[in-house]
Amino acid sequence: METNFDFKRHRRLRSSASMRAMVRENHLRVEDFIYPMFVLEGNNIKNEVPSMPGVFQVTLDRLVEEVKEVVDLGIKSVILFGVPNEKDEIGSGAFIETGIVQEATRLIKQEYPELLVVADTCLCEYTSHGHCGVIHNHDVDNDESLKLLAKTAVAQAEAGADIIAPSNMMDGFVTVIRHALDEAGFTNIPIMSYAVKYSSAFYGPFRDAADSTPQFGDRKTYQMDPANRLEALREAESDVAEGADFLIVKPALSYLDIVRDVRNNFNLPVVAYNVSGEYSMVKAAALNGWINEKELVLEKLTSMKRAGADLIITYFAKDVAVWLQESH
Ligand code: PBG
Repeated sequence: METNFDFKRHRRLRSSASMRAMVRENHLRVEDFIYPMFVLEGNNIKNEVPSMPGVFQVTLDRLVEEVKEVVDLGIKSVILFGVPNEKDEIGSGAFIETGIVQEATRLIKQEYPELLVVADTCLCEYTSHGHCGVIHNHDVDNDESLKLLAKTAVAQAEAGADIIAPSNMMDGFVTVIRHALDEAGFTNIPIMSYAVKYSSAFYGPFRDAADSTPQFGDRKTYQMDPANRLEALREAESDVAEGADFLIVKPALSYLDIVRDVRNNFNLPVVAYNVSGEYSMVKAAALNGWINEKELVLEKLTSMKRAGADLIITYFAKDVAVWLQESH
């Protein structure tokens, strides 16, 4: 066709699947994923989390079979959350040698030494009040909590955790944990800091899975206000200065602008946490037949890479690993 109009023909590079693959800018790789697992105290239990179809709490005796599935799919890393039987005011279960995450870590490292175990360092699953630190005067006491978080990180490293991921949002947690790890001889264990963690309704299903709903109040005095962007840079900046090795932005989907800001301002690996509510919304729609789950999940995880994430913590890791295998 002859035309007098002057315009660009962008469709040339979209003309076939091969052409599109050739010019594709971002890719998902199985190495990008960290798979969250919930380890329960008790025996022979594998509980599906009602608000997270396809996600299970498992006891130690059922853990190895679960981890085998993950390893067989080519996933290189898991992040562990503990669901203890007993809780107390100070969250002792988080830092005792026989704590559930420590037991699970020892077991996994014995069976699968190559699999990277990330330990989530927080107290909320272990405190009777469900907050991420110790309570004084109806609020979480920052500096008292830091001492217990440092103990937790050291206990996790002693059990064999490869990476420490503190999610508690106390000020100074990176420096205090870094010093404690170094003093205990773990100078080579990196800290994957939940540097930018918003106070988010997207965590609802996780609190069912980890039994960590606060028994009073909310987490707004320590987790960030979703309205803020500059505050995210201040949080990331202090964590970098304190010695963080990775920066997590959480949640991911409604915070892709923040993922990009963090990517543009810092040179550490950036991790997007595709949180529980983001998972459950997709699952609910998929179970109703309202969306194409596979296409939607691949699209949204790719958008996290495009926003600048190097790694993604996601409950979809196993599904995506299967889909990536199918496409090769
Ligand atoms: C613990 C923690 C939470 C999540 C990860 N670590 C819950 C919270 O802060 O309430 C949420 C993860 C998810 O929603 O998938 N502090």
